[in-house]
Amino acid sequence: MPSKRASSRPAASREALSAGEVWTQAVKRGVRGWLDGAEADRLYQLAAVATDPILEVGTFCGLSTAFLAAGGRQAVYAVDPCDPLLFDREQVRVAAGQDTGDLAREWWEALGLDAERIVQIRLTSTEAARSGEVPMVLGGVFVDGGHDDFNVRNDLDLWRWRVAPGGWLAMHDWGVRGEQPQPWRIRQICAEVLTGPEWDFAGATHSLAVWRRTSRPVAGRPPRVQKFEPKGEVAA
Ligand SMILES: C[S@@+](CC[C@H](N)C(=O)[O-])C[C@H]1O[C@@H](n2cnc3c(N)ncnc32)[C@H](O)[C@@H]1O
Repeated sequence: MPSKRASSRPAASREALSAGEVWTQAVKRGVRGWLDGAEADRLYQLAAVATDPILEVGTFCGLSTAFLAAGGRQAVYAVDPCDPLLFDREQVRVAAGQDTGDLAREWWEALGLDAERIVQIRLTSTEAARSGEVPMVLGGVFVDGGHDDFNVRNDLDLWRWRVAPGGWLAMHDWGVRGEQPQPWRIRQICAEVLTGPEWDFAGATHSLAVWRRTSRPVAGRPPRVQKFEPKGEVAA
């Protein structure tokens, strides 16, 4: 499935969109997702400090993407194959019969965000990493794709190499949601993978955990991927 590139239509009043305004619009529109307001606000703040493009793994209906795009000035690469076969039971329920990629784009358009800097990539995380469609150096990576052990570890192993020193890596569903323990092993896997001196834990907002990349080199060998080859205009 081809990626959808940022169009050349100018964005409407993106500068003016606060996190609170995005949240209000999302509630009005009934945009589906699992972020709470504090987590959305943290994504917005993280985007604001990113000095290189941002990657999101797991876009669903584009709720989190909107905060990343509204909060920062960098391009946001939003990766999701939008394939119901990859949804968990809850996602199947809330998106029954609908194309989440189209819903996401309509929502971004309604906010005036899409045209400016969101690059929608309708591929799996692995395909996207290999494709050469995502920049090699990223200011932030937000992981919220497949929540099973394989995908969580795979996403970290694919993308952690690309976070620039000073950048961040954020993981959703890392901890408890309210009083409910999470059914996944995301926290344990993060503890195993993000252990080196190249990562500083920067705290969690509810179930959104954040690590900062230090200036120490990442140990080991990154996966083989194609070099980034931009195919469209993305304004910074
Ligand atoms: C929890 S939802 C993301 C919610 C979204 N970040 C938000 O806050 O609104 C998880 C998404 O991950 C996607 N996904 C599942 N496996 C994936 C994979 N291997 N690569 C990329 N995305 C994947 C699903 O299609 C689904 O849309």
